[in-house]
Amino acid sequence: MKKILVIGALGQIGSELTPEFNKRYGCDNVVVADVAYDKHGVVKDNAFEKIDVTDYNAIESAIKRHRIDTIINLAAILSAKGEQNPDLAWRINIDGLLNVIRLGVKYKLDRVMVPSSIAVFGPQSVLYNAPQETVLKPNTMYGITKVTGELLADYYFRNFGLDFRGIRYPGIISYKTPPGGGTTDYAVEIFYDALKHKKYTCFLSSEACLPMMYMPDCIRGTIMLLEADRSKLQHHGNYNLGAMSFTPEILAAEIRKHIPEFEISYKPDFRREIAKYWPASVDDSSARAEWGWAPQWDLPATVADMLKEVAKKVN
Ligand code: NAD
Ligand code: SER
Repeated sequence: MKKILVIGALGQIGSELTPEFNKRYGCDNVVVADVAYDKHGVVKDNAFEKIDVTDYNAIESAIKRHRIDTIINLAAILSAKGEQNPDLAWRINIDGLLNVIRLGVKYKLDRVMVPSSIAVFGPQSVLYNAPQETVLKPNTMYGITKVTGELLADYYFRNFGLDFRGIRYPGIISYKTPPGGGTTDYAVEIFYDALKHKKYTCFLSSEACLPMMYMPDCIRGTIMLLEADRSKLQHHGNYNLGAMSFTPEILAAEIRKHIPEFEISYKPDFRREIAKYWPASVDDSSARAEWGWAPQWDLPATVADMLKEVAKKVN
């Protein structure tokens, strides 16, 4: 793993993963790519390639020019946007993924990492302490693309020896870059509205309990899996990763410890139906056993830090 290409680097996760890569591997060894331009200077220390992940030739050219041996593909359409445009979700999440996989095989890349999601679960899955291996029949296009990605990871590992790694991220909470159109985005928006207006109207129902994770844990877990000893890994693109679980009510109560006047109300929309069949919690014993995962951020610590950091932006 000497030279890394991060595709979709300007999004919620990439904009925080890339600086961490820079610290660890050196800016010269990390090339960033996105279909968007880095207008806000999010990853200003790296070589930048404007690449659409559905463009095979553009990715190949970057691999050759920069002598890339590792790809992290974060380019995706998330759950809520995916329901509004299922064709686009398939094109980017699957056609784009296949480009990365085919080039990974062609150039014998050291490893490829592509996130999965809690969206792989569905109405027939076990939704409390959701097992690593269970029925995966999601009812969103986003979930379908993520299950397909996990199956492709197993297939290309088995048949082509491609070292494909991925985590089923829970909802990621962060303040640096806004989330990109998912069902768990409420757990970020709420902090801005709490600080600006002391009230928030949630698009999920009050009892929607979902697994969530603070960005520092997400980045640490991602790097742990990326660097894990291959011989210890029993899975490929589908590690469950847990940190905390809460409903909007529980989150609001935690925020109220800092802002007593804060009020939450509910106006559920189509995203309530998405959240309904996602797990309340996940069993991450494989990640713990195979590569030493343990979260460091719980809900009280996350809320305190988010309020402190978002306050700096809002003010
Ligand atoms: P995001 O939407 O914030 O960022 C995605 C990035 O990909 C954006 O910068 C966007 O410009 C770029 N992109 C979109 N289409 C592209 C294309 N055709 N070619 C190249 N780049 C393109 O997403 P994120 O939250 O950073 O998610 C990264 C990965 O993690 C995705 O696979 C997502 O499914 C997964 N994930 C995220 C969460 C979460 O809560 N953030 C949870 C589970 C899984
Ligand atoms: N946070 C993501 C979403 O809501 C989960 O994959 O789409």
